[in-house]
Amino acid sequence: MNIKEIINKKRLGCELDRNEISYVIDGYVKGIIPDYQMSALLMAICTRGMTFFETLNLTDSMLHSGDILDLSSIDGIVVDKHSTGGIGDKVTLILAPLLASLDIKVAKMSGRGLGYTGGTIDKLESIPNFNVNLTEQEFIDEVNSIGMAITSPTTKIDVADKKIYSLRDATSTVESIPLIASSIMSKKLASNADIIVIDVKVGTGALIKNKKDAIKLSHYLMDIGSHYNKKVFCILTNMNQPLGYNIGNKLEVIEAMDALQGNGCKDLMEVVYSIASIIISEVRNISLDEACNLSIANINNGSAYNKFKEFVSSQNGDINNIKTNSKVVTVFSNKTGYINEIDAEKIGKLTLELGAGRISKEDTIDYDVGISLNKKVGDYVKEGDILARIYYNDKEIDINTFRGCFKYSQEKNKVDTIYGMIKCKDM
Ligand code: URA
Repeated sequence: MNIKEIINKKRLGCELDRNEISYVIDGYVKGIIPDYQMSALLMAICTRGMTFFETLNLTDSMLHSGDILDLSSIDGIVVDKHSTGGIGDKVTLILAPLLASLDIKVAKMSGRGLGYTGGTIDKLESIPNFNVNLTEQEFIDEVNSIGMAITSPTTKIDVADKKIYSLRDATSTVESIPLIASSIMSKKLASNADIIVIDVKVGTGALIKNKKDAIKLSHYLMDIGSHYNKKVFCILTNMNQPLGYNIGNKLEVIEAMDALQGNGCKDLMEVVYSIASIIISEVRNISLDEACNLSIANINNGSAYNKFKEFVSSQNGDINNIKTNSKVVTVFSNKTGYINEIDAEKIGKLTLELGAGRISKEDTIDYDVGISLNKKVGDYVKEGDILARIYYNDKEIDINTFRGCFKYSQEKNKVDTIYGMIKCKDM
C-alpha cells in the first residue's frame, strides 16, 4: 500500500477501504507516515468527506491504536458524557457529582482545552493540588468507592487521537463531521462506559455551526455506538452565547460550585438537568420528568454538592477559600435595550487572549483569568449597567472590542437552550 495513492484517492472523492484506513492509522502512530502526508489526507477528508463506513473503520482503527479500559470490576451501569466543546461549558463539573449522588456511576476521562474552547481537565487543575492523573486502578477504585472519577486519559488510550487531534488543530482540519465523530467515539469506546451522552454544541462558539450538521454528526455518533453495542444519546444545545455566566478555568469551577448549591444560571442548569434526566431515566427506567425531579431534589438538598466535595478531596484538591487571584475591571454598558446576542466565539477568543487557554500545545494557562458576564441574552440593560467583569493578570483585552460582542435590540429575543435530543435505537 502507498500513502500517496491513498491521499490521491481521497482527494478525488473516492471511498477508502478498511485496509487503507488501518494502514494510515497504524503508519501514522508508528511515525512511518509523516505529519505532512497525514495533514494532506486530513484536508482531503475535510473537503471530500467520508461515508459512514469509512468513519466507522476510522473509529475502529483509532480505538485499537491503544488500550481499551476494563471497567468490569465496577458494579452497575457506568455512564460517560462528552461535549463537542463550547465556551463556559462547565456542565461535567455539576452533572457528574449530581449523578453520583443518585448512585449512578460516572467514569469520565476528560481532555484539555485546545483553541478557544475550554477543557474539563484544565478547569479541575485550577483547583489547588487537584490530581488529574489517576492511574487506571485509582480511577476504577474511586468510581467504586464514591461513584465518580474524572481524570486525564492515560497515555495508552487512543494513541491515534492524541496525535491526530493536535495535527488537526494546527492544520485547520478540526471542523469535519467524520473526523469529529471518529475522534469522539474512539475515545469514548476506549473508555468503555455502558451509556454515553454526547452534548453536541451548535452555534457561533461551537465546532458545529448549524442544526443540520449537528443532526448528521449525532447520527454518526449513535450509529457507531450501536455497532459496538453501546447506547449513545445525543443532545443538541445552543452555543450562540457562552453557557452560564463565567468563562475561564477557576471562574468556571466557582460557578459550578454555586450551581451545585442551587444558584445555577438558567441556561446552564437546563443543560445539566436535560442530560441528567436522559441518563437517570435510562438507568432507572423512569420517565424523563421523574428523572428531572430527582436531579432537582439532589441539587436543592445539598447531596450533589456534598458529592462534589467528596470527589475533590478524593483527588487531593482543596476548594476551601477558592478564589481568583487577579486584577478585575468592570465593564459598563454604553447602550440601553435587550441583549439579543453575546458572540460566544469572540468571547472565547478574548478569554484565550487573557491567557485562560492555550494557543499552542506548549502554552501555560493562567487559571485565574477570565470573564464573568453579568447579563445574558434576553436581559434588559440600561446604559451604565454592569455588563461583565474581566479578570486579568499580565495580558489585557480591549474593552471596546469586548463591548462589541454584545448586540442590542428594542425587542426581547427568545432563545432556546436545548434544541432537541436524539436517542439511539433500543438495543
Ligand atoms: N471533541 C473531540 O474529542 N474531538 C473532536 O474532534 C472534536 C471535539
